[in-house]
Amino acid sequence: MSKICVVGTGYVGLVTGTCFADLGNDVVCLDVNETRINNLNNGKMPIYEPGLEQVVSLNKKAGRLNFTTDYKLALDKADFAFIAVGTPSGVDGEADLQFVRSAAEAIAEIVNHPIVVVNKSTVPVGTGDWVADIIKKRRTVIGTPLEFSVVSNPEFLREGSALSDFMEPDRVVLGSTNREAANKVAQLYSTLRCPILVTDLRTAEMIKYASNAFLATRISFINEIANMCEEMGADVQEVAMGMGYDNRIGHAFLDAGLGWGGSCFPKDVKALAHMAVLHGTHPQLLQAVMDINRNQRRRVIYKLRKALGNLDEKVIGVLGLSFKPNTDDIREAPALEIIHLLENEGAIIRAYDPQAMESTSEVFKRVIMCENPYKVAEGADALVLATEWNEFKQIDLKRIYDLMREPIIMDGRNLWDPEKVISLGFKYFGVGRGAYPNGENNA
Ligand code: UGA
Repeated sequence: MSKICVVGTGYVGLVTGTCFADLGNDVVCLDVNETRINNLNNGKMPIYEPGLEQVVSLNKKAGRLNFTTDYKLALDKADFAFIAVGTPSGVDGEADLQFVRSAAEAIAEIVNHPIVVVNKSTVPVGTGDWVADIIKKRRTVIGTPLEFSVVSNPEFLREGSALSDFMEPDRVVLGSTNREAANKVAQLYSTLRCPILVTDLRTAEMIKYASNAFLATRISFINEIANMCEEMGADVQEVAMGMGYDNRIGHAFLDAGLGWGGSCFPKDVKALAHMAVLHGTHPQLLQAVMDINRNQRRRVIYKLRKALGNLDEKVIGVLGLSFKPNTDDIREAPALEIIHLLENEGAIIRAYDPQAMESTSEVFKRVIMCENPYKVAEGADALVLATEWNEFKQIDLKRIYDLMREPIIMDGRNLWDPEKVISLGFKYFGVGRGAYPNGENNA
C-alpha cells in the first residue's frame, strides 16, 4: 500500500485518486476549491461519471479516500504526489500551466521527505523538466534540498468510461530520467496487467498529444470521406466497416458525425499545433484536421437552409447537448456551436439532453429546454440529433413525426436507420449517407 496525494479533483484527478484508493492505496485528493471539497465530503460528485459516486463512497467508508483543501495534510508522508490539475487553452491555443506551477510550488514548499512527483495533467512537451526546475529552484531559496523525481504518466481516460479505462488500460506510459522512480510508479499499476512503457519524460508527454491528435485525425478523416460519400452516392457507415476489417486500420474512431468535441481533443490538437509552430515545424495535417472539424458543424446549417430556406423564426429541435453520450460535459460540444449558429440565423431552439440541460441553459438563455424528446418535437420545423444517447435509439419516431410541423430529421450521429425514418414520411439528412443525399431522394 502506498500513500498517494492527488492534486486536483477535476475529472482526471478524481477518477485517478478514486481508482488508486480502490486498488488498496491510502489516497488524499486535494483541491483549492473549497465548495468542491465540501461537496465531495458530503458525497456530491462535481461531474457525472457512471459508477464514480459508488466507488468514491465505498472507498471513503473504507477510510482509504479523503478529500481536503489542506496541502500539508494531503502531502503528509505521501510517497507520490500526482499533479492532475487543469491545463486550459490560452489565447493562442497554448496550454496554460498556472495550476501546474502552483501545485509544483506547493510541493516544494511543504514536502520534507523523498517523494515522486507524477504529472498526469496533459502538459506541453518539456513540462516535466520545467516542474523539476521549479521545485529545485524553490528548494534552493528555502535552503534545504529535496529528494524527488518527476515522472510523466499521461492519462488515457475517456469521459463516460473513465473507471474501466483506468482499471483495464490498453497501456500505461511512464516517462522519467530516473528509472527507479518510474519503477515505483509502475508498481502502483502492477495489478492491472497491461503493458507498461517506460520512456524519457518528453517522449511520454508527446505520446499523450500524439495519441489524441491521431484519434482526432481519424475522425476528421472519416468525416471528410463522409462528405464525399454524400456527393458520390456511397455510404460512409459501410465504407468505415469495410476499412475497419483491415487489421492495419481497425474499426475504432471511424464513426462519421458532427465531429469531435469535449475538453481534450480540441484543446490538445490546438496545443500540439501551437507547440509545433513554436518549434519551427509546420503542422499542416493538424490544421486540416481542425478545419474539417469546424466545417462539420457548419454543414448542419447548410443542410437545414437547403431544406427550410431562411431559418429566421424556424423552430429547430436539438436532441443531445453534451459532447458525447454518458457525460454532462458540454465543453466544445457540437450541439452548442450548432445552436449558436442557428440562433444567429434567427431560429428558435427547443432542446433536450438527459444530463446537460442545466449547464447549457447558463450559456444559452433563449433555448427552450424540454422535459423529453417529444416535447422538443412539438411544432418543430426540423429535428437535429447531436448526441447519440442510448435513450434516443428506441425513440418513437412515429410519435415524433405526428408532433412536428415539418418532418425533417438531421441525424448528426447516424443513429437511426434511414430506411425506417424515410418510410415514416420524414425528409432525412444523415452524415455521409450517399443513398439519401441531402433529403433530395426521400420524402
Ligand atoms: C479522449 C480520449 O479518447 C482519451 O483517451 C483521452 O484520455 C481523453 O480524450 C483526454 O485527453 O483526457 P474523451 O474526450 O472523453 O476522451 O472522448 P472520446 O470518447 O475520445 O470522444 C471525443 C469526441 O470524438 C467526441 O465528441 C465523440 O463524439 C467524437 N467521436 C469519437 C466521433 O465523432 N467519432 C468517433 O468515431 C469517435
